Amino acid sequence: MKVPFGDLKLHYQEYKEIFDQAVARVLASGYYILGPELQRFEDEFARYLDCKFTVGCASGTEAIYLALAALDIKPGDEVLVVAHTAVPTISAISMTGATPVFVDIDAQTMVIDVADLERKITERTKVIVPVHLYGLMADMDSIKKIADKHNLPVLEDVAQATGAKYKGLRAGSIGRFGAFSFYPSKNLGALGDGGAISCQTKEDYDRLLKLRNYGQSKRYHHDIVGINSRLDEIQAAILSAQIPFVDEWNDRRKEIAKRYTDGLKGIVQTPVEATDSDHVYHLYVIRHEQRNELQAFLETKGVGTLIHYPTPAHRQEAYRYLNYAAGSLPVTEAVANRILSLPLFPELTNEQVDFVIEAVREFVNANPNSASVEKQLATPVKAGTGRD
Ligand SMILES: Cc1ncc(COP(=O)(O)O)c(C=O)c1O
Repeated sequence: MKVPFGDLKLHYQEYKEIFDQAVARVLASGYYILGPELQRFEDEFARYLDCKFTVGCASGTEAIYLALAALDIKPGDEVLVVAHTAVPTISAISMTGATPVFVDIDAQTMVIDVADLERKITERTKVIVPVHLYGLMADMDSIKKIADKHNLPVLEDVAQATGAKYKGLRAGSIGRFGAFSFYPSKNLGALGDGGAISCQTKEDYDRLLKLRNYGQSKRYHHDIVGINSRLDEIQAAILSAQIPFVDEWNDRRKEIAKRYTDGLKGIVQTPVEATDSDHVYHLYVIRHEQRNELQAFLETKGVGTLIHYPTPAHRQEAYRYLNYAAGSLPVTEAVANRILSLPLFPELTNEQVDFVIEAVREFVNANPNSASVEKQLATPVKAGTGRD
């Protein structure tokens, strides 16, 4: 049996009819940019999120950038964010000229550590960017409390958590802005690049509409400096067609995650769920001391895995200029060496999941020297010293 990490072709084949109809409708319409399909998607996505407005844009990276631009984030400003994320979260901050200030993560949930967050606030801090990583939402009540105390806006990075809920509220409807990615493998994916920003006020909405379209209020009237970051009509139609299925797909993701956890508990460190939060399992990430060996073994069994992410942002060459020493984000760094993402997508069969579970068990049984789950759970949690 082969278990690929993902299978987008299978997804297309299963929903071929609705995809083909959506594309054919747009092609025949002669309207390809900023037309009725985008408006329809933005309305339907806002309804799905139960928020006031959404604005389509070209990617998740630019969704974060546009929200930061709407907040007028500029060089000299500091943006609080985790280093344990997809690097594009940080690229978007860099695009504004502002300085990303890295916050460590919680050892159990692997999302932002709110105690470290508060420690890192300075008079230059302008915004907090919690990342809902792997489909698990950050602790939004604590973050909002800190944000309100310091009068800071919150921009949620929802790229990996479309459809997730925190105390009944959808990810992206809690902060002042939410930034979404529709990269094809996401929980709601386009057949190409795409993104969106959610917001709650007409003022923010109007500003985002201008920012994504050359800063124009109407043709040839450029009120502010903007860029070209639009979600095209074909992708908008493809996304609208899929909104009705997102919750169903997320339920299947949760079912697969439960099957993995039932089969792997006590064998490897399985993902932690938070009580207030509905994990939508964009990724199913286990932890093991011999991660690299386990990954190589699974490959020999025909099981595709990936690491999200092997090198945290503060240790990447591009961010060397920020001068974070090794050890400055201890939990982030410890986690990066142990994490492994197992295959998880809605079309995965139970037989495939069981095959992966068996393969992991086989590796662990053959490697009795690999550290106990208890030892792995005892990841030391020290306060990061921040920049050095
Ligand atoms: C957490 C996170 N933020 C931002 C992005 C950027 O999204 P995109 O690839 O659509 O630019 C991604 C996706 O790669 C992501 O996973």
